[in-house]
Amino acid sequence: MPEAPALIAEAIRFDAVGKTFPTRPVPLRAVESVSFAVRRGEFVAILGPSGCGKSTLLMMAAGLETPTEGRLERGGVKLHGPHRQTGVMFQDATLLPWLSVLDNVLFPATIRRIPRAQVLEAAMRLIETVGLKGFEGARPHELSGGMRQRAAICRALVLDPDLILMDEPFSALDAITRDEMGDVLLDLWQHTQKSAIFVTHSIREAVLLADRVLVMSRRPATVAEELVVPFPRPRTPALADSAEFGAVVAHLRGVIAGNMA
Ligand SMILES: Nc1ncnc2c1ncn2[C@@H]1O[C@H](COP(=O)(O)OP(=O)(O)OP(=O)(O)O)[C@@H](O)[C@H]1O
Ligand SMILES: [Mg+2]
Repeated sequence: MPEAPALIAEAIRFDAVGKTFPTRPVPLRAVESVSFAVRRGEFVAILGPSGCGKSTLLMMAAGLETPTEGRLERGGVKLHGPHRQTGVMFQDATLLPWLSVLDNVLFPATIRRIPRAQVLEAAMRLIETVGLKGFEGARPHELSGGMRQRAAICRALVLDPDLILMDEPFSALDAITRDEMGDVLLDLWQHTQKSAIFVTHSIREAVLLADRVLVMSRRPATVAEELVVPFPRPRTPALADSAEFGAVVAHLRGVIAGNMA
């Protein structure tokens, strides 16, 4: 019997997913038996050592790499290739330099041949939400790094995806801009019911933004630890100054250190 996606409470499910790259002379095992699901509306952060396989996991979730073992389900259906309702934001938020901010934000609609008029309002609203109003006509080189990242967030959200995949989206930013971007994201999340997988090296960022944090092992990546973040929403950036927040961050730091020892 065909599955009924509307009744599925999970945005995405990894079921014993593995990935081996056919490198020479020896194949490279990047991901090993990863199983977890992201519920609708849930924000999951992934922490783990460099080179362990986090980006590979995200590429598979985006449908841009195929698992060599196991199964990936998107809304209860086996995932085959990129999904229209998935927004992606990768580490180097490369905007197209010859396009304006607005045209960059509208780009996912352009490649899917969706009429501009259909998404223009959503694009303008997002641009305003992230504080880029007035810069619609600017080219990327006229923006600061943080502004480019904000435009990239708008681009990832413009088609109103129900799942957004972010791979260290703020890693190239200085600490202050990075905090600012975290606040923008936190704010966006209080108003939408989207699911997210967010890869970061910042424990603090993970705890502030996520409902659940997964800690990956060294390569091949597998889920070594899972922590449900105990802070209710809506959250504000001030949460990060509390002793309770500090305790959760310290706990995770210990887990990661133990995991890497
Ligand atoms: N297309 C590919 N072909 C061969 N090997 C690959 C490919 N993509 C990734 N790898 C290898 O898979 C492993 C995991 O890489 P991945 O980019 O997923 O790590 P990561 O956890 O995202 O690291 P970082 O935190 O540094 O971004 C690495 O050893 C990398 O060399
Ligand atoms: Mg990576």
